[in-house]
Amino acid sequence: MELHITCIPGDGIGPEIVRETKKVLDKVAHKYGHKMIYKDILMGGASIDVHGVPLTEEAIADAKAADAVLMGSIGGNTTTSPWYKLPPEKRPEAGLLAMRKALNLFANLRPAVLYDELAAACPLKEEISKAGFDMLIMRELTGGLYFGERRTIEENGVRKAIDTLTYDENEIRRIAIKGFDIARKRRKKVTSVDKANVLDSSRLWRKVVEEVAKDYPDVTLEHMLVDNCAMQLVKDPAQFDVILTENMFGDILSDEASMVTGSIGMLASASLNDTKFGLYEPSHGSAPDIAGKDIANPIATVLSAAMMLRYSFDLDEEADAIEAAVKKVLQDGFRTGDIMSEGCTRVGCTEMGDLLAERI
Ligand code: NAD
Ligand code: IPM
Ligand code: MN
Repeated sequence: MELHITCIPGDGIGPEIVRETKKVLDKVAHKYGHKMIYKDILMGGASIDVHGVPLTEEAIADAKAADAVLMGSIGGNTTTSPWYKLPPEKRPEAGLLAMRKALNLFANLRPAVLYDELAAACPLKEEISKAGFDMLIMRELTGGLYFGERRTIEENGVRKAIDTLTYDENEIRRIAIKGFDIARKRRKKVTSVDKANVLDSSRLWRKVVEEVAKDYPDVTLEHMLVDNCAMQLVKDPAQFDVILTENMFGDILSDEASMVTGSIGMLASASLNDTKFGLYEPSHGSAPDIAGKDIANPIATVLSAAMMLRYSFDLDEEADAIEAAVKKVLQDGFRTGDIMSEGCTRVGCTEMGDLLAERI
C-alpha cells in the first residue's frame, strides 16, 4: 500500500527524531511491502526563519493532502530565542495551534505505559513501579484556554492580561464519546478530570460527560478533580485506564504521567479528528537544551508513528512490529540518556534509530 505522509521535522531535536522515525518506517515498508511517500513541510521556528510566519496556507494544504502527518516538535528556548521577541501570533507555538485547528484535531490520545524494562527509570517507589500501569490520556485539543479570547490591556495605568476558558456542550460531547469508545476497547473505566468545584466550564463538562456515559453502561465513570488527579498519578498510577480531560489539564497531566513512565522521551501522541486522518507527534517539545547533540530519545516519535499506522492506515501488524521493536531494544539493554540506568548500554539518537530498525 502507498502511504502519503506529510512530515514536519520542526525545530530543536525535531529533525533528529523524525529522521530516526523515518528510518524505522522505511524498514516497516520494506518488510511488509508498502511504499512510504514523504513530503516535508516547515512549521514553527523553521517556518518563521524562511517565511516570517510559523505556518503558511501552503503548509496547511500539504498537511490536508496527506493521509497522515508525522511531526517532530516545534519551538525554541522561550527566554533566549529571538522567535519569542515576535508578537504571540507569529511565534512557533501559534503555528502548531493553527494546524490543530485547521485540521480539526480535537482528540489527543497520549498513552502512558510503564514498560517492565523501564521500572528502574520510574522515579516512584518500587512497590508502585513493580505493579506497572497502562493509561491513556484523552485530551481535548481544540478548545478551552488555548483557543479562548485573549488580550492584554492597560486599565488606569495598570497592565492586565485576559485569557478565557470556553467550552460548549458539543465540544465536550464529541471528546467524551471518543473517550468512552476507546475505554470500551480497554479496561472499561473513564476518569473524567475537571475542576468542577470552581469552574463553570468544568461543571458543564461533568454534566455532558454524565449524559454521554448513559450510552455506555458497560463502562465505569468516575469524576476526579484535577489537583487530586495530579497527586493520584504519582501515588497510584495503576488506578487509571482512560483519563478524559480538557485541553490545559491534559497538557499538564500528560507531562506528569510521562515522567512516571521513565521519561517524557517515551510518551507518544496522536491528534485525531472524526476521520482516519491524524497528526502524530511526541508529547514532548523541541528540547533546545539537547538539540543537535544526537542524544535525544526518538522512541516517543517512533511510537507515535506506530499509532499512525494503527489509526490512520489500519496496519495493526506493522504497528505491533514497531512496538515489539521498542520492547526488544529495551530488553536488550539499550538506553538513551534520559532513560539510562545501571548495567545498560547508553546510545545516542541515531544509534537508537538503527537498533530499532534492525529489530523490525
Ligand atoms: P521539552 O519537552 O522540549 O523539554 C523538557 C525537558 O525534557 C528538557 O530537559 C529536554 O531535554 C527533555 N526532553 C524532551 N524530549 C526529550 C527526548 N526526546 N529525549 C530526551 N530528553 C527530552 O519542554 P520545554 O523545554 O518546556 O519546551 C521547549 C520548547 O518546546 C518550547 O518552545 C515549547 O513551546 C516547545 N514545545 C513544543 C511541543 C510540540 O511541538 N508539540 C511540545 C512541548 C513543548
Ligand atoms: C504539547 C505542547 C503544546 C501544547 C504547545 C507547544 C503549544 O506543550 O503538545 O503538549 O501546549 O499543546
Ligand atoms: Mn505539552
